Order: sequence, then structure tokens, then C-alpha cells
Amino acid sequence: MSWKGLIHEYRDYLPVTGQTPQLTLHEGNTPLIRLDKISDQWGIDLYVKMEGTNPTGSFKDRGMVMAVAKAKEAGSSTVICASTGNTSAAAAAYAARAGMRSIIVIPEGKIAMGKLAQAVMYGAEIISIKGNFDRALKMVRSISETEPVTLVNSVNPYRLEGQKTAAFEICDALGGAPDILAIPVGNAGNISAYWKGFKEYNTAKNTGLPKMFGFEAEGAAAIVHNQVFEEPETIATAIRIGNPASWDLAVNAREESGGLIDEVSDSEILDAYRKLAATEGIFAEPASCASLAGLYKMLIRGLVPHRSRVVAVLTGNGLKDPSTAIDCHDITPVSLPDDEEEVCAYIRGVVRQ
Ligand code: F0G
Repeated sequence: MSWKGLIHEYRDYLPVTGQTPQLTLHEGNTPLIRLDKISDQWGIDLYVKMEGTNPTGSFKDRGMVMAVAKAKEAGSSTVICASTGNTSAAAAAYAARAGMRSIIVIPEGKIAMGKLAQAVMYGAEIISIKGNFDRALKMVRSISETEPVTLVNSVNPYRLEGQKTAAFEICDALGGAPDILAIPVGNAGNISAYWKGFKEYNTAKNTGLPKMFGFEAEGAAAIVHNQVFEEPETIATAIRIGNPASWDLAVNAREESGGLIDEVSDSEILDAYRKLAATEGIFAEPASCASLAGLYKMLIRGLVPHRSRVVAVLTGNGLKDPSTAIDCHDITPVSLPDDEEEVCAYIRGVVRQ
């Protein structure tokens, strides 16, 4: 049977009624891939949840299909969100699919090119502000209280409902929860959604519970330092957030699961980003690689027991942010004349080295 999307597949676990539109772009059902080489190197059993294979290239599709369907069900015609890029791409796509209007507010100059291209293509009304994500979120939260628009940031509870389904898929693929779930933390909605999902599935199917390991970027590590970062900064623009909306829920996930929330530097993120692509053939966006970078850091600290079964969530596709990929490499194409002999001589030098 072909996959019909989250609202259809998980309706028993979601706040779906007879009136909920059967909205879908066939989101969910993403691959769980074992990292064979890195597992061997690190002495653990390591998998990645490939959320970049969702229809708009990030995990946001899971939450957005629910939030937009429920907005439509309630009779709304317009959705609004603040975003570092992925939320806005998903909101714009699902709004288009549902025949609704989308308005997005983004931090100027700090959103990856692929994400902006998506918002443009899906026909969003795009507002770029000089401030950062936290400022944009504050604005849309208050605007949505007075104007006829539905807020679809993760403070909308339907977002977490949709996003929790990734935890179900992991349990189904592995036959139970992993020992550790490693995940990037930005606005802190996703770590909260996964924890909700693991708990609900454990209640329904006795699948067990993982320790939740969340990772913020060092320049935007509000939860780690227990203080708001007024000027968050990181190369991982998706998680460039200084005052996470789901702060308390994330702390709760950490406490209840016996896990941790720590931070990773930009250079640790970029090391993981390059290693993942070059050794396993998987290209995930920089923010996604905070999960892997953080896991490695905890491994070195002795906090990941030998042979643990670990899932790292790769939240978004690498193609979202081609500039970072190109900027963080020395490799540039070799320029040769249009001459087969010269090209061949060069290649011979490479393959016979
Ligand atoms: N990874 C990626 C690729 C993201 O886009 C985000 C958040 C996160 C991780 C963090 O997830 O916020 O639930 O803790 N992006 C939001 C956006 C903020 O606007 O697209 P979180």
C-alpha cells in the first residue's frame, strides 16, 4: 500500500475529526539509515532519521500539515509564521496546497537561499525584518491575536502533534525506542514533540523511552546557560534563536528522560557536516548536524555507553543551504581546456596516484 501522509496514517494518534481536511503532500515515512562506518568508528549502533526527505525538505512538514489542516477546518483563510526558513517553506507549501494564503516574517540576510527560493515559489507574502527570529516571533504572536490570521509557529499545539509522529516511525523501524535520541534544538519545539511521541507510543505499545540529548549552537545556547541570548549568532541559521518558545517543554523532556541539553560550536557543526557527507553520502543542512556533532562530543566525554543504540535526527536537507557547503570547502573545480587528452592526463594523475 502506498503511503498517504500523516493525517491518514496516524489519525488514531492525532486530533483529527470527520471535518479535518485530508491535507497531504505525502509527508512522513522518512528513511532511518544506519551509519555503518561511523558506527564502527564510534563503537555504537548509530542511525539517522532523514527528515530532509520530507516534501519541502525538512521535518517542519509533519507539524505544518496538521496546523494548516486544523486552520482550514476552523475556517481560517490565512496562516502566519516567523521563521529562520524551514517553517516558512512548509507553511507556504501547505497553505498553497490547502488553497490558503501564507504570510511569513523572516530575519533579513539570515535565511538560507534554498529556503527563500521555496517561499517565493509557493507564493508566500514575504516580510523581511532587520531584527532576528525572536523579534519576528514576538511580532507574529501579537499580530495573530488581533488580526484574522492563524499562527502556525510551534506554539500552535497542532504543530507538536504532527511532529511527534517521527518518534512513532523510529520505534516502528527499530522495534522499540533507541537508547539515546540526539536532536538539534532551536525554538525547542521538535525535542518536545519527539518526547511526547515517545511517551504516547510507549503507553500504547510498550516501546520504551530514550534519553533525550538536545544540542543548541554555542552562540545561541539559551537553555544550556539558562539565559536569553539577545544577539544569537551561528552559522547554523536554522537554529539562530536566543529565546526558545518551548524552553520549559524542552527542559521537561531532558529531566523526564534523564537526558541532557548541551551546546556545539560552529566548527564542531561543520566538522560533522563534512564528515557525514564525505563518509556516508548524506548531505544534511548545518543545523541538522548539531545532533551528530553533539553526540560525538558526548561520546568523547564518556556519556554514550559502548554499543548504545542511538538515533540522530537530521532535520533538514543539505541543499537548503548551498552557500555554506561551498564556503566551507577548499575544493574548487579544476579548470581545463576543452581537450580530451589534457582531461585524460589529469584524471590519470588522480586515479593512478
Ligand atoms: N533543524 C532545522 C533544520 C530547523 O529548521 C530547525 C528550526 C531546527 C532544527 C530546530 O527545531 O525549533 O523545533 O527546536 N527551524 C525553525 C524555522 C525555527 O523557522 O524553520 P526547533
